[in-house]
Amino acid sequence: MTTVSIEAALAAHAARLEATTLRDLFARDPDRFSRFSAALDDLTLDFSKEKIDAEALDALLALAEARGVAARRDAMAAGEAVNETEGRAALHMALRGSVAPEIAGVAEVAPTRDRFLAFAEDVRAGRYAGPDGPFTDVVNIGIGGSDLGPAMAARALAPDADGPTAHFVSNVDGAHFTDVSRRLDPRRTLVIVASKTFTTQETMTNALSARDWIASAVGAEAAGGHFAAVSTNLPACAEFGVPESRVFGFWDWVGGRYSMWGAIGLPLAVAIGAERFRAFLDGAAAMDRHFLTAPLAENLPVLYALIGVWRRNAMGWPTVALIPYDQRLDRLPAYVQQLDMESNGKRVRLDGSPIADATGPVIWGEPGTNAQHSFFQLIHQGADVIPVDFIAAAAPRERLGDHHAKLLANVLAQSAALAFGLTEGEVRAQMAQAGKAPDEIDRLAPHRTFPGDRPSTTILHRSLDPYALGRLVALFEHKVFVQAALWGINPFDQWGVELGKALAKDLLPAVERGDGAGFDASTAGLLGRIATLRS
Ligand code: F6P
Repeated sequence: MTTVSIEAALAAHAARLEATTLRDLFARDPDRFSRFSAALDDLTLDFSKEKIDAEALDALLALAEARGVAARRDAMAAGEAVNETEGRAALHMALRGSVAPEIAGVAEVAPTRDRFLAFAEDVRAGRYAGPDGPFTDVVNIGIGGSDLGPAMAARALAPDADGPTAHFVSNVDGAHFTDVSRRLDPRRTLVIVASKTFTTQETMTNALSARDWIASAVGAEAAGGHFAAVSTNLPACAEFGVPESRVFGFWDWVGGRYSMWGAIGLPLAVAIGAERFRAFLDGAAAMDRHFLTAPLAENLPVLYALIGVWRRNAMGWPTVALIPYDQRLDRLPAYVQQLDMESNGKRVRLDGSPIADATGPVIWGEPGTNAQHSFFQLIHQGADVIPVDFIAAAAPRERLGDHHAKLLANVLAQSAALAFGLTEGEVRAQMAQAGKAPDEIDRLAPHRTFPGDRPSTTILHRSLDPYALGRLVALFEHKVFVQAALWGINPFDQWGVELGKALAKDLLPAVERGDGAGFDASTAGLLGRIATLRS
């Protein structure tokens, strides 16, 4: 495994580009958009507003070659144990039919999919119902990968949701279950307990509360009929009381954060129906085909990943603002946070040696235009450079006056303002033209200047429908995978979440007893305060 850092490999390109500006790059090259964008059907990735030139892009593509990205991708698709620390394959692409059916376990995917989609249709049609008739609501109880994907997608595909309403409870904070269940009728509610392991503290705690809530309305005997489960741990589902006929499995070769394409997508399938769910899978499969076959220089996930590595390692920018100009993608940043940061938040390589480079960036964001009225001030004029990923659909799902034209005008305005800014000279000229007095111009011009030269990438597609959402999410999945390959890390484990889980187990009796004996001084002090405040 190479030990030369990416930062060192790209240093000369970074120095050259740091000495120029996006204004200069655009002035020098009128073809910049066509040179620095790529498309798959109606989906365009425009990275022309990144601080990059043709030589830098060539160097990045050479890096992808040198670090064996294509071989690693092919190993994943072939079912090799690319999740080396857990000794498993990573075959989420199998859930959308994108890998060879001969690979061990893959033949089980289609019948399992047929089963959970048939169940979703039964619930939608009222063939599987509660004591008072069809279920009106479905509550998914799960956390992390057993929550964020379907929760994000159910919001994104709101116009397609014509089945029972999907709700999501994840936090062990009792406020979450209370606030969701308060508005629902337990007699008309189906609960899906979604947990790969079926041992996660938050999920099992919420599932037990849900069982009490349902039992209080329909009796303990009938409560089980309001439950379905999605898990790889079938014995634990049976022990919880969900009969096999309503347990939908998946496999250890599907990571939690890559699982919504299978039965973890059940609440989404109930909301939008089997046909649209299949279109969602088809969209992901289209991105898979492209990822598996397109040359690296035209491959969207590869290019998107290289841009990320350029920002992180060559330019040293530690965060990315993910800003969908699409209100229905308001949970996409949270979803991508888990996908990206749980996958690539690593500091050792596959062989256990420390990585010479910085790895996964901090991802954060909110939908535009709302974000413009909160933190965009800092992105435009703050001291730090924060690269932005914009997402926009050319056409809205509904016609409502000129809302969508205004939305699009805003996303284009933001990326242009970030890239090109407004020089002090331009500000002075504008103010003079507006008749401002010279002393006012002197006083305010520095405040009204925009440095510009702030990078962004824009992902543009036709319209946010099930197919487009599947394709978009698969783009993010593969981008994360390519970056892991470039850094030489395993994106499929998550040991970093274990220590806190174990400590929480140890601390639970101490919280209940109100006794900090044996803990560090801070924890003991806080336990003492908690005991006082609770009494
Ligand atoms: O937070 C760690 C994690 O293991 C995630 O990777 C996973 O998505 C989540 O917990 C939920 O786990 P499970 O589906 O087993 O309940």
